Amino acid sequence: MLDILYKRRSVRRFTSEEVEKEKIERILHAGLLAPSSKSKYPCEFIVCDQAELNQNLAASKPGGANFLKYAPVSIVITGDEEKSDVWIEDCSIAAAYMLLQAEKENLGACWVQIRERKYDEDQLAEAYIREVLQIPENQKVLAIIGLGKKDGEKEGRDESFLMKEKIHWNKF
Ligand SMILES: Cc1cc2nc3c(=O)[nH]c(=O)nc-3n(C[C@H](O)[C@H](O)[C@H](O)COP(=O)(O)O)c2cc1C
Repeated sequence: MLDILYKRRSVRRFTSEEVEKEKIERILHAGLLAPSSKSKYPCEFIVCDQAELNQNLAASKPGGANFLKYAPVSIVITGDEEKSDVWIEDCSIAAAYMLLQAEKENLGACWVQIRERKYDEDQLAEAYIREVLQIPENQKVLAIIGLGKKDGEKEGRDESFLMKEKIHWNKF
């Protein structure tokens, strides 16, 4: 597991090659295997593999979503706030599992923050995506994971990256 954790980086450059369906399915299975508070399982995953859709998603907020234009696959992660008061935590851990499985598949992936982000002065990124993907009102949008075959290699981390002063034993 640590090998995958050291190797994983946020990858935003992808080749135009198609991603194998089995790989996408294993990534989604990883999301479905994540723990869930009180076993409520409020998360839903919307897989977008159409170029036009991903271009629309890239416009969901200024800046940080741009790379989705070139992502062969995006996975939009939503959580039902009526099912769980901690849908954010549940969706976050599911997203983390999917990022790790993506690395295991040697695919590039990167989180795009949507919750609390704006599309423009008047509209939330969430509202924009809700319209594009016809997401029901009770489903809140946490994030999007952009996925694809890595275009180039980003160097992984080594032990020198670890901020070990952040670790506290028994008291702060
Ligand atoms: C909660 C969260 C939100 C993030 N939002 C974005 C985003 O909107 N766009 C983006 O390109 N990267 C986003 N990232 C990726 C971070 O920029 C990245 O994880 C950080 O720079 C560390 O680099 P690494 O993932 O390669 O270790 C986000 C990461 C997290 C955990």
